[in-house]
Amino acid sequence: MCKLIIILLPILLILLLPQTSSKLTRLTLTKFQSMRNYCQQNNLNISDIFPNNVGQNGSAILEPLSNYMDSEYYGVISLGTPPQPFKVIFDTGSSDLWVPGIYCQSYACKIHRKYNPSRSSTYQPNGQLFAIQYGTGSATGYLSSDTLTIGGAKVVNQTFAETTSEPGTTFIYSEFDGILGMGYPQLSSYGVTPVFNNMIAQGVVSAPVFSFYLSRGVRGKPDGELILGGTDPNHYTGNFSYVNVTKQGYWQFQMDMVSVGDVQLCTGGGCQAIADTGTSLLVGPQHKIARINRAIGATYQSDGQYVMDCRSVQSLPTVTFTIAGHAFPLTGAQYVLRQLGPNGRPQCLSGFSTMGSTLQWILGDVFIQTYYTLYDFGNNRVGFATAK
Ligand SMILES: *[C@@H]1O[C@H](CO)[C@@H](O)[C@H](O)[C@H]1NC(C)=O
Ligand SMILES: *[C@@H]1O[C@H](CO)[C@@H](O)[C@H](O)[C@H]1NC(C)=O
Ligand SMILES: *[C@@H]1O[C@H](CO)[C@@H](O)[C@H](O)[C@H]1NC(C)=O
Ligand SMILES: *[C@@H]1O[C@H](CO)[C@@H](O)[C@H](O)[C@H]1NC(C)=O
Ligand SMILES: *[C@@H]1O[C@H](CO)[C@@H](O)[C@H](O)[C@H]1NC(C)=O
Repeated sequence: MCKLIIILLPILLILLLPQTSSKLTRLTLTKFQSMRNYCQQNNLNISDIFPNNVGQNGSAILEPLSNYMDSEYYGVISLGTPPQPFKVIFDTGSSDLWVPGIYCQSYACKIHRKYNPSRSSTYQPNGQLFAIQYGTGSATGYLSSDTLTIGGAKVVNQTFAETTSEPGTTFIYSEFDGILGMGYPQLSSYGVTPVFNNMIAQGVVSAPVFSFYLSRGVRGKPDGELILGGTDPNHYTGNFSYVNVTKQGYWQFQMDMVSVGDVQLCTGGGCQAIADTGTSLLVGPQHKIARINRAIGATYQSDGQYVMDCRSVQSLPTVTFTIAGHAFPLTGAQYVLRQLGPNGRPQCLSGFSTMGSTLQWILGDVFIQTYYTLYDFGNNRVGFATAK
């Protein structure tokens, strides 16, 4: 099965929220920031960021994320000595790390930052050929190893791919340069230890958990955060509800039910779902997604996506996901994305979409924006708490 990442072509995506211009300015200013500066700017108490829920209190690492149109969240890592910075998506639906390589001639590489091994004193050649196919987009290249810097912490001898080709248009339109997979090692294409598993092995984090806060363009709040080794209680309320991972690869678990009005799906045995930061929307099997979209009054547009009249958003029914006995409701305002349509007019995109003949459900960014998500390697479980 192909790796799962959906990148909505940003050429069609111009957010209709008033802070658009300031957000775009902020994106161009993405750079390394000390954790203390970041906390001050965002009114966070640095001592609040700690690995709770795991009975330990060692170091946690904060990686600020930038929000592009509520559908891509990326942060800055660097590779090499001295550090060469890259913007990457932290994708829990894949387990490989790649960045554009210096020899890549694809147009997508020409307009993104490229890794140059000859400028790094810690570069170690590997040479294994690499190829990866995502739900949208693909890349080929070869493996190398180098020191990786993430949120100010260093991971030595991290193997990753430098691309030599990024065909198609997906990565041309992307704000990010590369992808950093955070799925299980079992999903790694060439048996390479993924970044977070190396962080655990090298003692860079004290707790084998990481968590995501993805904001929905709220003024005065950070765009998003990845906390490595803990959680940030500034961004959720109440307790986490946990569900065990059913199959290690994706962060996969059983979902008991999806319901809207009198439509009830997945009853009698449940459905398999994954919590995937690399997918923008909610994805499900075609006939089930069609039923939900009918119930919320959305019509099929193209490419597995449904749209609706923006005037109806306030009156849309709540769609509820039931996981491990807990209800996770999403209101219309939470599952609809506002954008500019292909004709330049405002349109509202339903969060419920399909991708090929996928049978699994994918709870992407639309879900994680409402529910702060904890990925726990120590207990092989996923936790959800109400984001704030
Ligand atoms: C941050 O939290 C700690 C521990 O809860 C507290 O002692 C400290 O006063 C707080 N600092 C600020 C600036 O709120
Ligand atoms: C946890 O924090 C307390 C107080 O700051 C400290 O005494 C203790 O050694 C820490 N435990 C660990 C495992 O780091
Ligand atoms: C780096 O990792 C590779 C395998 O991933 C290993 O063969 C090599 O010895 C390691 N090098 C160092 C310096 O740790
Ligand atoms: C969270 O869990 C604790 C301990 O299990 C419990 O005492 C508390 O009431 C819970 N809080 C909420 C909001 O459910
Ligand atoms: C989840 O996994 C843990 C550890 O394997 C197990 O003890 C627990 O019973 C499981 N919970 C459920 C609801 O299956």
